[in-house]
Amino acid sequence: MINLKSAGSVVNKVGWADVILECRNIAKNFDHIQALKCINFKLHKGEILGLVGDNGAGKSTLIKIMRGVFKPSSGEIYIDGEKRVFENPKDAIREGIQCVYQESVLVEQLSLAENFFLGREPTKRYVKGLIQFVDFKKMREESNQHLLDLGFDLDVIEEITNFSGGERQAVVVSRALYSKPKILLLDEPTNALSEKVKIRLFTLFKKIREICPMIFVTHDLDDAIQLCDRLIILKLGELAFETKTKEGFSKEEILKYM
Ligand SMILES: Nc1ncnc2c1ncn2[C@@H]1O[C@H](COP(=O)(O)OP(=O)(O)OP(=O)(O)O)[C@@H](O)[C@H]1O
Ligand SMILES: [Mg+2]
Repeated sequence: MINLKSAGSVVNKVGWADVILECRNIAKNFDHIQALKCINFKLHKGEILGLVGDNGAGKSTLIKIMRGVFKPSSGEIYIDGEKRVFENPKDAIREGIQCVYQESVLVEQLSLAENFFLGREPTKRYVKGLIQFVDFKKMREESNQHLLDLGFDLDVIEEITNFSGGERQAVVVSRALYSKPKILLLDEPTNALSEKVKIRLFTLFKKIREICPMIFVTHDLDDAIQLCDRLIILKLGELAFETKTKEGFSKEEILKYM
């Protein structure tokens, strides 16, 4: 479980300059379409890095490479300075990379608690360890506590089908954070959310960035400016611009590179 209280001390220890993830010369072709061309950037500990660009610029393709859905046609990914090759999403998850995207999967007819532990249900053994049951009590208690820690008061026994879009997104984000990821990839996670829900999620992202740096994909520049510490701008598969600090990026300036 992410402990928000420990966030400050972690960032003091690692400092701003530490690189947690690096993409070197990443390119991706789909047959004759060159979706990405020689992308180089670094994600530092403690930061929210915005990845912006027009529709079709290559943002989701880059995210899918970092989460092991696509293999790059060329180029490398480094985590904590070590080269990593992801054959599939499980490899990326094993490296501590979690992802939230608009279509993140929740099962309608299962409860919030069941969705929270989907595919990794805790179990309990009976009769000298011979019989194994899913530990529903633990699922309810842990999901409830984790959601409360992140500021979401939701009924974990309720079926997912009864939750609003914003509440579902809160569940998806909380579920991704439960495994204490090293890096969180967010591909347009706030699309279709109300301003109020979006602000709540942004507040959460800002609180946890020191223990879990993020790459936040959006084509909404106001969101990017509001949330992100730095930005990289993709245009037609190329890295058109990268801001060096939080200071000095205006909407007009970003638009020039898109
Ligand atoms: N699986 C695929 N097969 C073929 N082409 C693809 C595939 N995935 C993406 N592309 C192409 O790669 C390019 C970049 O697409 P991508 O989805 O990465 O853009 P994006 O920046 O995420 O756009 P949006 O803002 O609309 O989500 C597009 O030309 C797209 O058609
Ligand atoms: Mg996309």
